[in-house]
Amino acid sequence: MEINKFSVVGAGTMGHAIAELAAIAGYDVWLNDVSEEILNRARERIKWSLEKLREKGKVREVEEVLSRIRTTTDQEKALRDSDFVIEAIIEDVEAKKKLFSKADSLISKEGVLASNTSSIPITEIAQATKRPERVIGMHFFNPPVLMPSVEVIMGKSTSQETLEKALVVSNRMGKEPIIVKKDIVGFIVNRILYRVYDIACWLADNGFSIEDIDATAIHELGFPMGVFILRDYAGLDVEENVMKIMVERGFELYSCREFNRRVRAREFGVKSGKGFYSYPEPGKYVKPSIPKERAGKVKGISLISPAINETAMFLREGITTPEDVGKACRLGLGWPKSTLDYLKEYGVREVVEELRRLKDLTKLNHYEPDKYLVEMVR
Ligand code: CAA
Repeated sequence: MEINKFSVVGAGTMGHAIAELAAIAGYDVWLNDVSEEILNRARERIKWSLEKLREKGKVREVEEVLSRIRTTTDQEKALRDSDFVIEAIIEDVEAKKKLFSKADSLISKEGVLASNTSSIPITEIAQATKRPERVIGMHFFNPPVLMPSVEVIMGKSTSQETLEKALVVSNRMGKEPIIVKKDIVGFIVNRILYRVYDIACWLADNGFSIEDIDATAIHELGFPMGVFILRDYAGLDVEENVMKIMVERGFELYSCREFNRRVRAREFGVKSGKGFYSYPEPGKYVKPSIPKERAGKVKGISLISPAINETAMFLREGITTPEDVGKACRLGLGWPKSTLDYLKEYGVREVVEELRRLKDLTKLNHYEPDKYLVEMVR
């Protein structure tokens, strides 16, 4: 497949990095956003990142890669005759539909429209186009340059040919694809992650300290970042939006006071200098230090069981394979193991008991153990 023109719409945290990855992969990229200021900032960030990659021998020529990225505020110019578009604009269904409807009339006949949405079902966005078979999800993880994988989501009408094109692109970008065969809200990675967020936040509302919860996440479960550190890193405003989309489409979540309070105070995390933790320079991530001795007050099995429960549902419903669950956890979230490995480690009987205990304690129905797990115990 020839991709002569590659377009990325949205030059924020995700968009600028996707454009960078596409240029490293050798594509000629048009990067579009609404103002020169945003585009200039994107160029600076890409340059900084490419310099870092050069230091590590992962990129040879910074200027050469940069020369493959053209920026413009003229959206039609960025989209016209494009062969592959990835949108990374705000997480808003109507905005994405509007963009895809416009792109549909401008891009090449065989062109593919990919969305970097982290939660909105692809089928919904595809409805705004006359080419739903050429619409697909490509959900990159933050930070896209460092994370080794991408979730590739098939909408109801997405064709095999479109999937293959998206796989070629992800492969050239050096990303291992996690294929989501059924288009469910939040896909795989975020559904697993939000199950951990959910119980962590309930615990934080009910007497456990944020540092203690993160200590267990890092030092017992081996996560690369604490649960609340990751929330600060992604941005609480972004997350609020994602949660709203997921809840509106039937994904049950606990409404967390510790989270809501911070959002109301506009404490969005790293970008604001304050979230669950404080960051001396807004916008600059400095890893909070979480001592090992604090692990243990919260049990690892409490944090991970809801995510295991979600995985059980995926397997029962044929949404993905055990292999791709492993990729989602290891490559999408940077965990040392899959939810299925944690299940083996803690024991299926114990996990089911833990879920029942959590359901009793929280009065939240979504902790009801999945029948797949109950069946395994039997
Ligand atoms: N480009 C190039 N280099 C970069 C970079 C970039 N964009 N960002 C950071 N680096 C560099 C750093 O400067 C650092 O360089 P030095 O070695 O010279 O110091 C190096 O990369 C490593 O950076 P860190 O020290 O920050 O790396 P780390 O070992 O702590 O790992 C991490 C960072 C990969 C992010 C790791 O913490 C991790 O895997 N975290 C989990 C992230 C995650 O779960 N993301 C997915 C879910 S969130 C999401 O995707 C949002 C959503 O859908 C709504």
